[in-house]
Amino acid sequence: MNDSIIKTLGVAFTICLICSFVVSSTAVSLRDMQNENKANDKRMKILQAAGIFDSNKDIKEQFETLEPKYIDFNSGKLLTGSLLDEFLAQHKGDYDQIAATRNSNYSKSLSTAEDIAIIKNRENVGKFYLLRNEDNSINKVILPVRGYGLWGTLFGYISIENDFNTVAGLEFYEHKETPGLGAEVDNPKWKSLWPGKQLYKNNEVALEVIKGKVPEGDMNLAYKVDGLSGATITSRGVTNMIKYWFSDSGYANLFSELDYES
Ligand SMILES: Cc1cc2nc3c(=O)[nH]c(=O)nc-3n(C[C@H](O)[C@H](O)[C@H](O)COP(=O)(O)O)c2cc1C
Repeated sequence: MNDSIIKTLGVAFTICLICSFVVSSTAVSLRDMQNENKANDKRMKILQAAGIFDSNKDIKEQFETLEPKYIDFNSGKLLTGSLLDEFLAQHKGDYDQIAATRNSNYSKSLSTAEDIAIIKNRENVGKFYLLRNEDNSINKVILPVRGYGLWGTLFGYISIENDFNTVAGLEFYEHKETPGLGAEVDNPKWKSLWPGKQLYKNNEVALEVIKGKVPEGDMNLAYKVDGLSGATITSRGVTNMIKYWFSDSGYANLFSELDYES
């Protein structure tokens, strides 16, 4: 009787049911942890872009030393006062600007001519961070940037010194580029080429990733970063990302506002 087919199927079914319950409940219970790890990874990149990440300290605590700020891209102005309060209340104090790009109430679709970084939709409001000195003056501004590479969008943060022209650091927290080729954007050696580079020349965005190595003594050394070898398309994507986000559609108008604030 014990080896009847019905009993065998019954045992198999019960085991399947138990296993699927264990797997699905584990997946659900780990989701929060995975989201928290993802958030911490992004926080770490922001701190690294600002040049203040300390692996011996708690990431969240370090991150809280940065001051979040909001820019209305359509006007180029900082969100302040009651407008900011209203905005934060609308988003329950937890604004996700990438999620905003998927909602036409919170973003605008870019025209082909404007969309040089191939981001399709640009959020109406950007969230960025200030690193302040002890006397409360601005030390660095850490700004979210993104642009299409070869396989997908590269998401990152760039930090700018308080002259609002000198790059302090660049970090990507998500991309789909190929390891050894486009993914060399994460190579510390390549990232170390960025600090000190200049964004604007005669009020135009001049900074670019070139093809090949910047020749020593190049007159425009301050505006050029070595290309990623075998990854010209990713390199071009990074250039277009810089060109877009530091244009008038991005952060160009923010800097005069911050100048006034600091
Ligand atoms: C499997 C595969 C993956 C590639 N991944 C990248 C990449 O992530 N980024 C990139 O710019 N080019 C990548 N390429 C190369 C591009 O197709 C193109 O050849 C390259 O960007 C040209 O750069 P170069 O002029 O420096 O050789 C990849 C090519 C292959 C076959």
